[in-house]
Amino acid sequence: MKRDFLSVDDLSRAELEQLLDAADEAKADREAWRTRLEGRQIALIFEKPSTRTRVSFEAGISEMGGNAIVLSSAELQLGRGETIEDTGAVLSRYVDAIVLRTFGQDRIERLARSASVPVINALSDSAHPCQCLADLQTIREKKGALEGLGLAYLGDGNNVAHSLMLGGAKVGMDVRVACPEGYEPVPSVTDRAKQSALENGGRVSVTHVVAEAATSADALYTDVWASMGQESEADSRGELFDRYQLNDDVVDLAAEDAIVMHCLPAHRGEEITASVIDGPRSVVWDQAENRLHAQKALLAFLLS
Ligand code: CP
Ligand code: NVA
Repeated sequence: MKRDFLSVDDLSRAELEQLLDAADEAKADREAWRTRLEGRQIALIFEKPSTRTRVSFEAGISEMGGNAIVLSSAELQLGRGETIEDTGAVLSRYVDAIVLRTFGQDRIERLARSASVPVINALSDSAHPCQCLADLQTIREKKGALEGLGLAYLGDGNNVAHSLMLGGAKVGMDVRVACPEGYEPVPSVTDRAKQSALENGGRVSVTHVVAEAATSADALYTDVWASMGQESEADSRGELFDRYQLNDDVVDLAAEDAIVMHCLPAHRGEEITASVIDGPRSVVWDQAENRLHAQKALLAFLLS
């Protein structure tokens, strides 16, 4: 049966850890992965902008001998009203997997139901599981382990936060989200992440107090205050989110060897200061690089 990757929770803990191992292998020996996707066609559809996801998927597919067909929905009949179901059924006759970046998670789920090939979530309004794979790979690479580590996420309880909560809980991390009132992660995700944490020896908490999340954290993480599709809220959010900025004071609360993470794109002076993102604790470029390796491992896993 085909496997999709719509949420990081689609993987068991063992599969997730196996995937992170494969991502490390793909990074350590790029040569050994040259033919893994030979003869394979992968369609990538973007209904929102992207730098990292698009380029890392396209480069990764090419590095493994496959062919990436990158499309914006405006170029497809999808942009003129063809249904997502018909698109999924047709593309399945041409390609071996479909990667979609879109708005509602329901669009990805509909695509997955209608496609007979694996569908990968390249970001929706409620999840960014590919980002989470690279994030976990990066934390493990820097810290040597994941289980028991404290990860503090500051800012909007958004797609990136959701995937970190689910992924972090699954590998036994202590994930602490600090967000303004009214911008909490959606309750169903928090409940699921807490359940998963219980099963896997981790912990998940949501607070409105930065110090509760950041104190002694091993990794500090933030994301934009207004995500794609929320641009009109950017100004009103600014004032509310100001207290959640990842700045030097927050870094001082964390463990002495804490790393600083950001999925990017970043807005210096808003959710993170230049001193922190461009400072010695920042691992954001390695984190961005790991998108490539983690997605290569993901494609190999789904298409093997
Ligand atoms: N982090 C991330 O997904 O970046 P892009 O929006 O550039 O793909
Ligand atoms: N939360 C951000 C992530 C961008 C990679 C957004 O959805 O725009």
